[in-house]
Amino acid sequence: MDNTEWTNGFWTGQLWLAYELSGQSHYREAAEAQVGEFSHRIFNRINVDHHDLGFLYSLSCVAAYKLTGSVKARTAAVEAAQVLLTRFLPKAGIIQAWGNLNDPAEAGRMIIDCNLNLPLLYWASEETGDTAFREAANLHIEQARRFIVRPDASTFHTFYMDPVTGAPRHGSTHQGYSDDSCWARGQAWGISGFPLVYRYRRDPRLIETSAQLANYFLNRLPDDLVCCWDLIFTGAPYERDSSAAAIAACGLIELGKNLPLGDPDQQSYQSAAVHILNSLINNYASQPDEPGAGLIKHGVYHMPKGIGVNEYCLWGDYFYLEALTRLTRVWEPYW
Ligand code: GLY
Repeated sequence: MDNTEWTNGFWTGQLWLAYELSGQSHYREAAEAQVGEFSHRIFNRINVDHHDLGFLYSLSCVAAYKLTGSVKARTAAVEAAQVLLTRFLPKAGIIQAWGNLNDPAEAGRMIIDCNLNLPLLYWASEETGDTAFREAANLHIEQARRFIVRPDASTFHTFYMDPVTGAPRHGSTHQGYSDDSCWARGQAWGISGFPLVYRYRRDPRLIETSAQLANYFLNRLPDDLVCCWDLIFTGAPYERDSSAAAIAACGLIELGKNLPLGDPDQQSYQSAAVHILNSLINNYASQPDEPGAGLIKHGVYHMPKGIGVNEYCLWGDYFYLEALTRLTRVWEPYW
């Protein structure tokens, strides 16, 4: 696969996890071999005109730097953070998700998925000492809390801010069922992204928000605990999104870890994650003799457009492996 998609980092991330879990050098060599491609991509600006640089570079180059000390990987990841920072709209206090910054259709649009792109900015701030990365991320996560999260702790997939005045405009969906429904993967990006940002910005409100989102999510699960693709649906005949379940499991573990010691919910969120993972293992994981190309079946990429429905997906597999790693060893996130 050419390194031109938003998803390439999930494969590299799986290789780094496989290396950490097994200690086998061929996984490390395969992951290291991709650092050059990621470096080429960012320095040549190949399809990097969007906010997904955190997904791409945290799991490839930041991971490489953390695990091997690669200077080439660090340089590429800092460059990616710099490109991501160019999408920051100061008046609106957000990172614009998609489109050329002059495109009126995408102007001022933030999306919940961006929570996972912010750790790259915090990491770059720590590495370089340049506080501009951190300040932009601080403002964005606050705007996401205020406007993407609804009063009932569900989330809009996307929310438009006025880039000139900074005023909030309106929420809308892109991959969900409707503007006022709750796209399951978006909710999972929220559950996991707020505590990942908390690792860098010790603001307890981020943990409170993640917990509220988690409660909304957990209250809308089908019997086998693997969510439908939109949380407006709670069971058959609607498609499941196993990738959202895997992302949420990682988020529940990170959330539980960051609750104060002795908080009774610490155990509840950890246990919810274990139950979701058990269901993924027993009901969704591919079997060794099964033809296919992935770890967990029944993911959904984009239901409204009918793309990637009921398929394996790279991000679902990455978070499935990350969740298993988190439950089986002490693990330092690449985020
Ligand atoms: N971040 C894109 C997606 O979740 O489909």
